[in-house]
Amino acid sequence: MSASVPIAGNRFIIVGGASLVGSATAAGLLDAGASEVVLFDNFSMGSEAAVAHLKDNPRLRLVRGDVMRLPDLLRAMEGCQGALLLAAYMTLNMDRDPWGGLDVNIRGVQNALEAARATGVRKVVFASSNAVYGYGPGVKGELVEDTPFHSAGAPPAAILYGATKIIGEQLCRDYKRRFGLDYVVLRYSTVYGERQHYRAANALYIIETWDRVKRGERPQVYGDGSETKHFVYVGDLARANRMAFEAEATDVAVNTSGPAPVTTLELVRMVTKLAGSDIEPEFVGDTPGKVRLTSGGAFRIAHEEAFRAIGWKPQVGMEEGLRRLMAWIESNEGRTS
Ligand SMILES: NC(=O)c1ccc[n+]([C@@H]2O[C@H](COP(=O)([O-])OP(=O)(O)OC[C@H]3O[C@@H](n4cnc5c(N)ncnc54)[C@H](O)[C@@H]3O)[C@@H](O)[C@H]2O)c1
Repeated sequence: MSASVPIAGNRFIIVGGASLVGSATAAGLLDAGASEVVLFDNFSMGSEAAVAHLKDNPRLRLVRGDVMRLPDLLRAMEGCQGALLLAAYMTLNMDRDPWGGLDVNIRGVQNALEAARATGVRKVVFASSNAVYGYGPGVKGELVEDTPFHSAGAPPAAILYGATKIIGEQLCRDYKRRFGLDYVVLRYSTVYGERQHYRAANALYIIETWDRVKRGERPQVYGDGSETKHFVYVGDLARANRMAFEAEATDVAVNTSGPAPVTTLELVRMVTKLAGSDIEPEFVGDTPGKVRLTSGGAFRIAHEEAFRAIGWKPQVGMEEGLRRLMAWIESNEGRTS
């Protein structure tokens, strides 16, 4: 049977949908003609404000529910052909509440897969992360889909987060093997863009830099500024989610990263320029108690496999994406969220 789920005329559920990736993806699915998009969320981190721009669309339905409660998921998934699984704790929240994170990222994913199987959902798209390659000095070079996991020298919360994403991916594989449930895993790199939140360590750095420069303070660069970051623009990811449903691909996990990595110094210079300033950054050491995600040197998250599997490649470069993010931060919606 075909593993493709066309968007037009079909109903989709986005589990953990009232936030950054969910709101952008919902907009994309509605534009492509989905008959209904259900945003399922317990609003522990997401908010109605994050989806306020969609609320007048009659094909959008907001459902309050918790992934820890299977009956909530069963009710909400009834009649859906596609399910995008986003609900998760990322590193910063995992640091504050590891048990809550392990529950949501593991049992929550299993509940969602079980509900998908029981209600006859045809395809699941699971939001994994480049955290499956780990963090710390071992992470360097070209990161491809079979690059191993590195844990030495990285904060425990980051490793717990990455480990839960590895488990989530394997739960998807297991549901395919046992029950034939089609799935595509997308390993997002750090997401940034409109409706940015403060929960992702690397994207938070962009906002902190912007805020400092706007206040006339020097932006801070950790170490010598050569550390690599590889982001992806949220609109590109929304398109990847949509294409993962539409593609014939199943039983695969692929990286979805932006066009190219940047160093932290390049990033700070881009943000400073966008703020209309030429203030020089200050080079600082680590801040005690702050969770930072480091790697062992230059790296690039290869996204060529995503093109082969689902026909996707990123379109929005870092400068353009930052410009859109900053425009949103300075807009009414950004100021009040
Ligand atoms: N943002 C990033 O930089 C990034 C990078 C790589 C991977 N990812 C993954 O992408 C996905 C979405 O990212 P995001 O930035 O939109 O995440 P987010 O933290 O903004 O959204 C997660 C949503 O899940 C909801 N949620 C949490 N616990 C829940 C529960 N028990 N029941 C129901 N809903 C619950 C939250 O309220 C929130 O709206 C996550 O799985 C994340 O791990 C994100």
